[in-house]
Amino acid sequence: MIDTTALTPAFGVGVTGLAIDDLHDDAVVSRLVEALKWRGVLLIRGLGLDDDAQLAFSRKLGTVVQAAPGEEIFTVSLDPSKARSAEYLKGTFHWHIDDTTNDVPAKATMLTARHVAMVGGGTEFASTYAAYENLPESERKRYEGLRVVHSFEAAQRLVHPDPTPEQLAVYRSLPTHETSLVWQRRDGRKSLVIGATADHIVGMRPDESRALLDELLAWTTQDRFSYTHEWTVGDVVIWDNTGMLHRALPYDPSSERLMRRTTIVGDEAWS
Ligand code: OGA
Ligand code: MN
Repeated sequence: MIDTTALTPAFGVGVTGLAIDDLHDDAVVSRLVEALKWRGVLLIRGLGLDDDAQLAFSRKLGTVVQAAPGEEIFTVSLDPSKARSAEYLKGTFHWHIDDTTNDVPAKATMLTARHVAMVGGGTEFASTYAAYENLPESERKRYEGLRVVHSFEAAQRLVHPDPTPEQLAVYRSLPTHETSLVWQRRDGRKSLVIGATADHIVGMRPDESRALLDELLAWTTQDRFSYTHEWTVGDVVIWDNTGMLHRALPYDPSSERLMRRTTIVGDEAWS
């Protein structure tokens, strides 16, 4: 029997008693979609999806993002011989939301663990919905109307604090994107749009802007709004990319850790 339990009081849901064949059942999939929507992170331990099964499951959740034409699934690994973007994955060790520099963020991301690190290599999540809801009323008022510029450069500077002119040119060739600090969705739910890509707050003094962004990140990633997933081979984790900050925990770059990743196209632009 399929059962669900909270991963933490604030968010996250673990699903037990589910077999791969159950994913063909639309009623089961609807239940998973609802759970993901309201709980932000969905964990199915040891499900053991292979590429075909991961793609089939992902397609049930929506349109799968193509990283390149025909490339719907790709590898997350620090080994450049296994993952094309291994270099930029170093940025995943800092709290971030994917796609903040796009107009429309991906709705959800699915990772399946094919190999895990001997030590470390967990993935941590923090709910920007829970963090926002628990802010004092006076602060919520203060943040209304503030806007944040997100950039690839801000995220990369955490990895390379002293970039070469060539590195800077690459970072700056990518578009920056402005979002509201507090995102109110069509359905009324609110969350914070912060993390590694948050470069500055529009119209605020740089030092004040940095201090506020750092303070909000520290608030959001405190234990009561966070969850750490320690991977076992076969685990599936899906998260609501629009509301979950996430980061990889350190591991030996020469370790075997390898994830397969699919991403679901979003349907609501940042405001
Ligand atoms: C990602 C990501 C974290 C991890 O795939 O977007 O941030 O633990 N991954 O590999
Ligand atoms: Mn990410």
